[in-house]
Amino acid sequence: MKPDVLIVDQMMPHVMEALETAYTTHKLHKADDRDAFLAEIGSRVRGIATGGHIGATAALMDACPNLEIISCFGVGVDAVDLDHAASKGVIVTNTPDVLNDDVANTAIMLLLATTRRLVAYDKYVRAGRWVAEGAPPLTQAIADQQIGIVGIGRIGQTIAQKLGVFDCRIAYHARSERPGLSYTYYGDLVEMARDSMALIVITPGGAATDKLISRKVMDALGPEGHLINIARGSVVDEDALVAALSDGTLGYAGLDVFVDEPQVPEVLFAMDNVVLQPHQGSATVRTRRGMGDLVVNNLAAHFAGKPALTPVV
Ligand code: 8YV
Repeated sequence: MKPDVLIVDQMMPHVMEALETAYTTHKLHKADDRDAFLAEIGSRVRGIATGGHIGATAALMDACPNLEIISCFGVGVDAVDLDHAASKGVIVTNTPDVLNDDVANTAIMLLLATTRRLVAYDKYVRAGRWVAEGAPPLTQAIADQQIGIVGIGRIGQTIAQKLGVFDCRIAYHARSERPGLSYTYYGDLVEMARDSMALIVITPGGAATDKLISRKVMDALGPEGHLINIARGSVVDEDALVAALSDGTLGYAGLDVFVDEPQVPEVLFAMDNVVLQPHQGSATVRTRRGMGDLVVNNLAAHFAGKPALTPVV
């Protein structure tokens, strides 16, 4: 008999197809009355497939008392109640590594876009200002500048490696120094911000990093500084960010993530010192396919009696 798997949200077609073939699937996102739906099928559910944004709450896990595994699409599992899963012996898996390359590329794209004013100058050309006013002001080079990476996990290290070809000096902030890394370590984030032209934020979300990028950090980065966030909106104090960008105490921001996605503070729309993206870090066909495969293959391994491929530890 096929195991029962609860699908919390619509997934990519190849994922849906694989799940529907291997399991008896139950689609929570299609249910009119979610509570009634869970009350009816919850006890049969042994696996959950969910998105990184939606995750899984304690209540959802409790509604599925025979749950064994939650397979999450995304490397960040801040939306999964990990403590609750652990207390119930539920395995949680994510999709690491397959997205390192594209998320790192997104970080560097945003860094180049803000330092070279890509979007503002594109508008400048389209508005006929090049003809009317001549060349716009010169921009900032990143060569020989210090770029501070906040979080030096797998993606942070990929960013650092890729930045090597731009001849930047790389520093990082993490809770502790990582042996074996040649980049400059800062235990003090404000100090790193003060010494860097840009911060790239790629640390996990959740309570431990909530508003880690505070007004103090932004002030230290300064009016010529760039803040790139490809982690989670929660890691940056968004109100403070809007204030700092508005009054010019922080120069520029490249933002892929926001506190209340897809809502973005509207005041940012009019700022030409900000580049905005709709959470695109991993959003290429290739990478999303790889992430989807991991969602499927983690469940497959588990239900074949083998260890999950990429459990969250
Ligand atoms: C995805 C992400 O956009 O992996 C993550 O943690 O934030 C992104 O790759 C997201 O998980 C999609 O749900």
